[in-house]
Parts: sequence; structure tokens; C-alpha cells
Amino acid sequence: MAERIEDIAQALVAKGKGILAADESSGTITKRFDALGIKSSEDSRRDYREMLFRSDAMKTAVSGVILYDETIRQKAKDGTLLVDLIKGAGAVPGIKVDTGAKDLALSPGEKITEGLDGLRERLSDYYALGARFAKWRAVIDVGPAMPTWNCIHANAQALARYAALCQEAGIVPIVEPEVLMDGPVAAHDIDVCYGATEWILKTVFQELYVAHVVLEGIILKPNMVVPGKKSAKQASPAEVAAMTARVLKQCVPASVAGIAFLSGGQSNEAATEHLSLINQVGLPWPVTFSYGRALQAAALDAWGGKPENVAAGQRAFNHRAEMNSLAATGAWKAELEKKAA
Ligand code: 13P
Repeated sequence: MAERIEDIAQALVAKGKGILAADESSGTITKRFDALGIKSSEDSRRDYREMLFRSDAMKTAVSGVILYDETIRQKAKDGTLLVDLIKGAGAVPGIKVDTGAKDLALSPGEKITEGLDGLRERLSDYYALGARFAKWRAVIDVGPAMPTWNCIHANAQALARYAALCQEAGIVPIVEPEVLMDGPVAAHDIDVCYGATEWILKTVFQELYVAHVVLEGIILKPNMVVPGKKSAKQASPAEVAAMTARVLKQCVPASVAGIAFLSGGQSNEAATEHLSLINQVGLPWPVTFSYGRALQAAALDAWGGKPENVAAGQRAFNHRAEMNSLAATGAWKAELEKKAA
């Protein structure tokens, strides 16, 4: 029996739970492995993801996992499908369906996310493989004379076409327009990030409306409002929380099922602290995490590609997932970080 997309969306933002973004393409995960001297192969990528999916926090802190095409088809060492490990932990399997951000023609330095061709058929295959939600990431860079309306509009329209195709297939779309904090320039201050975030969010919701997308059946995955990594003017956690809450209230209809932030290059603890402070503001939606790097970096480091380090990798993952679970209800405290095993 088909589940309602509204119910799947609610499950993804269940109280104290968030999403594990483990959908790095083989190229991206290879870069992360290379940085630690870990050999990237189909088996090593599987071993790493199996370690995460078998960790305790999957049952307590993780509502869903975003997978890459390779992973959704993979089996654990004992032959269990990785998708079944995720479901067994009570989480929802999801799939990245965009095919990446490509250069936007005649808009130097800007990107357009591709992947609409054949998407209806791919969604139906992924549904059969167990996916009940999907992700599409649009990338908005900030710099002199960027973003342009061309970039904002083209990406917002692609997100809306993707979201409509997902809902037609019974799959919840994660709508992810990311204003980069770590692009090539990354020198902008928090006010510039606010302006770019406001522009893309306003445009995305306009395009979702035009495309008849049901807002109760989407999850919005935005960036937080933060300065660029190389900005001369950094911002306090309180400022980040206040400006992020403000832009969301200005731009996001209350009917959206939930908001799950990306971490975008923030440090592990900053991503957690910001989420906790944002939740203390009091917003009309459940507000949680859909982190990649901020959930995985410590675990990847502790594992280092060695079977004897699986328990240490899982401890590191459990800790970050538990901290973010607390942050998702505004209950994280800095001193809890020190209790890490
Ligand atoms: P980060 O949390 O590492 O930004 O990744 C989240 C994600 O899914 C980006 O598309």
C-alpha cells in the first residue's frame, strides 16, 4: 500500500531525529578517503557506509539516510541489502537524483544542477529499490555580481520540476538550494548571505507554486545564514541563529512539512550549536539536520579504513548524531561535547 507523502515527510522530521546525508558521489567520497589515505573501492565505500548504518544512533537520532546510486544497490558483508539495514533501524531510505552542478552557459562562475532528463523513469526504479524520499541540490555562489537572476531562476525552476516529478512518483522531495559559504571567493559577509538566501528561497517557493507542488509533502534543505569562510567579518552563533530564523520566517510558508539544514562546511560543533540556537527561537516547522560532513567527518577519521576501528568510528558517529538530536530540540549544551567517549 502506498504511503502518503505527507506522512513520509513528517517521519523525516520526527522529534529529535534528522537526516544522514551519505550520498557523496563516488568522486566526492574518494576525495574524502584520499585525504585520509584510505583506498576508495566499491568494497571500502560499502564497508564505511555499513559501519554507519549499523551504529546505534541510527535507531535514536536518524530519521532517514540519503544514498548515492551505488549504495542503494549494495549489500552488506553478510548479504543484507544496505537499504534493509536502514529500514531495520527504523529510518527511511532516500536517494540523490540530481546528476551534479554544471557550468551555467553565458553566466561565468555560476552553476545549474542537471538531472531532469529521464528522471521520471529513474524515480520509478528508485521507488522499487525502496527510496521514499529524494534529494536535489542547487548551488548558488556569491561573489562580485553573483548570483545573477539567470542562476537563481534556472535553479529554482529545476528544483520545482524535480519536486513535482518526485511527488508524482510517491517520493518526498528534499528541496535543497544551497548558498555556498565555501565557494571560490567566499569573502562575503552575513548580510550578503542573507540577501542571496532570501532571493533564492522566495524564487523557489514561487516556482514550487507554479509547478503545483504540495508543500506538506516536501522538506526544505537550506543553508544557514552565515558569512563566507574567508570573510573578514565573522558572525556570532547568536547572530547566525537570529538571521537564519528571520530569513526562514520571511520566505517559507508555514505549510512546509519541515526544514533540515545542510552543514555546508561549518565545523562539527558550529553546525550543532547553530541548530540548537535556531530551535530555541520557536519556528512554525520542525527544524532539524540533514548533515553530511558535520555528521561524518569524525567517524571517517576514527575509522581510517581499518576494520579494527569500526567500533571507534561508530562511537564517533553516535556522538555527533546524539549531539545533533539534542540540537534538533534546542537542548544541546557545550559541556555535553566533553563527555564524548
Ligand atoms: P553537508 O552537510 O556536508 O553540507 O552535506 C549535506 C548535503 O547533502 C549537501 O548536498
